[in-house]
Amino acid sequence: MNFTGAHILSTNQFQRQDVERIFAVADEMEPYALRKKVTRVLEGAILGNMFFEASTRTRVSFGSAFNLLGGEVRETAGFENSALVKGESLQDTARILSGFSDVICMRHPVAGSVADFASASRVPVLNGGDGANEHPTQALLDLYTIRRELAGTGGRSIDGLKIAMIGDLRHGRTVHSLGRLLSLYDNIEVVLISPEELTLPPSIIEHMRSAGAKVSISHELTNSIRDVDIVYSTRIQEERFTSKEDADLYRGKFRLNQAIYTEFCQPNTVIMHPLPRDSRADANELDSDLDDNPNLAIFRQADNGVVVRMALFALVLDVADKIHEFSYDVRWYNSRQV
Ligand code: CP
Repeated sequence: MNFTGAHILSTNQFQRQDVERIFAVADEMEPYALRKKVTRVLEGAILGNMFFEASTRTRVSFGSAFNLLGGEVRETAGFENSALVKGESLQDTARILSGFSDVICMRHPVAGSVADFASASRVPVLNGGDGANEHPTQALLDLYTIRRELAGTGGRSIDGLKIAMIGDLRHGRTVHSLGRLLSLYDNIEVVLISPEELTLPPSIIEHMRSAGAKVSISHELTNSIRDVDIVYSTRIQEERFTSKEDADLYRGKFRLNQAIYTEFCQPNTVIMHPLPRDSRADANELDSDLDDNPNLAIFRQADNGVVVRMALFALVLDVADKIHEFSYDVRWYNSRQV
């Protein structure tokens, strides 16, 4: 694909070579993300970071990624702080904000809303999550993490991966986007572990199968994670249910802790989660007793969001080959280098 000026709305946009291009640029970003070096390649550019649904990682890592490239960030968080509560349309909001910004990131609770917004925007729009539909930048950072973790355990590639996706696969937009992205690779095996009512939408299962992936469905955890490379746990997406009581029916059904990991997983199985994990006692899908497990990749996974989002900004704003030209060493004390 031609990245320059493109909206990033869905993982359906990508071919394998596009994903590999993003990952190659992300690899180049590491010294800047670790604050060993500074680049000012986007000096003068403004990111409009528009989040109309709760977020910690995605909002702050988009902002950090843009700042690390030398750009400025302007934010709106929550409907209550925007003119959408006064009845302004998404399209008018896009027409206004694209006058103030060079690129826009947006999260919104309604599926398809970010694409509607992008249709009226004069600048590239990156989807930070639209309802239960997609979260393409999360899927890219997830796959980037899988690539790095597999390379670290015996130099394996993504081809031939066996992954278990666990939890609320019906409403979880991260697994929707990741499932489509994995379809670009060869000999992928996916085990979908969820309550019967919360399995992955049939259209995504069909998409993966027609691309050649082997997909199986399970409603049981322990025997289904015996020989996978990756366990990808997810939270019950309470905000997509009609009531908390409805979500409570499913919370805490598929808990992974160290005892279960030791008994049922392979010694090198990598543990992932898009986060936030729900650490309340009645949920606890990923127990904190896994925090010292070296195969728990969840915090490395979140860190990888910065380099992947830096790469996307560099590509859509067409500066990927100028990053180092506008760089210099940091001048301040940096604990990451000690
Ligand atoms: N993974 C993710 O989307 O996290 P936030 O909701 O904190 O952005």
